[in-house]
Amino acid sequence: MTDSRDEPTPAEDQSIRFRHLERGDMPLLADWFTRDHVAPWWQEPCDPASLEARYGPTIDGEDATEVFIIELDDTPIGLIQRYLVDDDPACSRTLAAADAPTPAAGIDYLIGDPALTGRGLGALAIDRFLTHTWRRYPTIAAVLVAVQQANRRSWRALEKSGFHRFWAGTLASDDPSDHGPSYLYLRERPQPDAAPSQEQDETTLSTDGHHQD
Ligand SMILES: CC(C)(COP(=O)(O)OP(=O)(O)OC[C@H]1O[C@@H](n2cnc3c(N)ncnc32)[C@H](O)[C@@H]1OP(=O)(O)O)[C@@H](O)C(=O)NCCC(=O)NCCS
Repeated sequence: MTDSRDEPTPAEDQSIRFRHLERGDMPLLADWFTRDHVAPWWQEPCDPASLEARYGPTIDGEDATEVFIIELDDTPIGLIQRYLVDDDPACSRTLAAADAPTPAAGIDYLIGDPALTGRGLGALAIDRFLTHTWRRYPTIAAVLVAVQQANRRSWRALEKSGFHRFWAGTLASDDPSDHGPSYLYLRERPQPDAAPSQEQDETTLSTDGHHQD
């Protein structure tokens, strides 16, 4: 991929889309998970068997977690996933201890190509993904993200996409990606009479793996 960092197109002018993860994306995930800017924060085994065990069920619709490829102008650039906090008892307990609002969804995300980080694409993708999350889950009150305090890129992207920090501490979690001091970030569902922020954007999200325009 060419590095056009010198004159990047402003993120808000670019077309971000989401599509469901497919089995053909597994090599891409293995590549992204081992990138230097991703590996410390996304600690998952990425051999084919582990990827199939982790993502096969979600591709087959047997896992409640929804996993999407982020596309920029039809090119895959990252991954974003969401789940309902109530579906994960350990996560649910942790968030209850932090007095987090419920019901809530959680998200995780990455931009795979380091040349595409630092352009606002992460913040833009998160913001657009939330527009769809409010529609997909009409009853959730908020979206929550646990992020390591040392992962400044991640929590800055969250702040730029409308999240606020509401808790800091050490999470009681078995997930190695939650190791060490963490922050919990929260974005509440917009009020019904609030102006829609990104409603007329080019973002599309399909439930059958195909784009909708
Ligand atoms: C987190 C991530 C998705 C953010 O995407 P992004 O497109 O880089 O985000 P943005 O461009 O909106 O920038 C976010 C902030 O990170 C900073 N940043 C980006 N690249 C950086 C780099 N290489 N070194 C230091 N800071 C960097 C930006 O300057 C910006 O901060 P600022 O607004 O204070 O200047 C992306 O960096 C990533 O994939 N990281 C690895 C995976 C990960 O950490 N996932 C989250 C797990 S909770």
